[in-house]
Amino acid sequence: MADIQKVGVCGCGLMGSGIAQTAATAGCDVIVLEADRAALERGMAGIRKSLDKFVEKGAIDAPARDAILGRIRTTTDVGDLKDRDLVIEAVVENMAVKKELFAALDKLLAPHAIICSNTSSLCVVEMAAATKRPKHVAGLHFFNPVPLMKLVEIVKTIVTDQPTIDALFAFAKRLGKTPILAQDTPGFIVNRLLVPYLLYAIRMFEAGLASREDIDEGMKLGCGHPMGPLTLLDFVGLDTTYYIAQIMFDEFKDPLMAPPPLLKRMVLAGQFGRKSGRGFYEYK
Ligand code: CAA
Ligand code: NAD
Repeated sequence: MADIQKVGVCGCGLMGSGIAQTAATAGCDVIVLEADRAALERGMAGIRKSLDKFVEKGAIDAPARDAILGRIRTTTDVGDLKDRDLVIEAVVENMAVKKELFAALDKLLAPHAIICSNTSSLCVVEMAAATKRPKHVAGLHFFNPVPLMKLVEIVKTIVTDQPTIDALFAFAKRLGKTPILAQDTPGFIVNRLLVPYLLYAIRMFEAGLASREDIDEGMKLGCGHPMGPLTLLDFVGLDTTYYIAQIMFDEFKDPLMAPPPLLKRMVLAGQFGRKSGRGFYEYK
């Protein structure tokens, strides 16, 4: 499996923008696909803001920032991804949308190209089944915020071949990440542990056992977490968390994975957390 140099990213939201930035920072040539230009603009603004933070901290200088931005092109036409060695999909956590994209990419890409999903919880082999290259399909699960979090979960389906896994481990390390190997089961490794914890924090708040501030302070000061669970839920996105909970509950029927009624109602009310300006907390 030749070196991965040309990278495509589908989705330029919270995660896609971070993945595009991180790959371009590692020297890759990146094309980001979004549903419309407004979403591309929002995503690129997030990338510029993050890179400016790195310049402020002295981690990179302005010319390096500009070179990184110069390695990122944007498009709303999936056909522009046809020359990519690797495409990482980071669109909405919805299997139908992901499968449609995988099928479209599969028709376009050269036989050697790898297609990965940044999905939090969906069945990766189901996406692979929408392509004619299931051996070259895996999960490549980054963590939010991608420019800062060191972990990448590499999800090997029952069909993914070893050269693909080896190429993805090398790619993750080239991006400065620490890859771990996960099986294609809902929530993989981290979310299998994290999501029940986050949902339980919502249940505690819903039951009036403590204030949102005290629940968050409790885990920050008591367990050294950088963010309390309700702050983290706003950061991840309540919409995304709701989809993940539905997906995991559907597979396991474990009550600890069932989306709390409050979460469903917040999402229906458009309260998605930081990204919508309001979740468990309000954001300017
Ligand atoms: N880009 C560049 N720099 C950034 C940044 C970004 N996106 N976000 C923050 N920073 C910088 C800040 O400039 C600051 O720099 P200094 O350390 O030099 O001061 C530093 O990072 C700290 O930022 P903040 O002061 O804003 O806040 P913080 O100290 O708490 O760090 C954080 C922010 C790294 C996000 C930290 O709060 C944290 O680690 N939170 C937990 C995140 C987490 O759990 N992620 C996983 C979510 S689950 C998931 O992703 C999987 C899924 O499928 C849902
Ligand atoms: P988001 O809502 O911030 O971004 C999703 C983006 O996908 C949107 O900008 C939307 O316009 C775009 N999109 C939807 N359909 C598209 C299509 N057909 N073509 C191109 N773009 C399309 O969501 P997010 O938080 O970035 O999550 C994206 C994926 O990453 C999900 O699968 C999620 O489970 C996973 N993930 C999320 C986090 C997190 O903390 N938010 C962490 C790890 C993984």
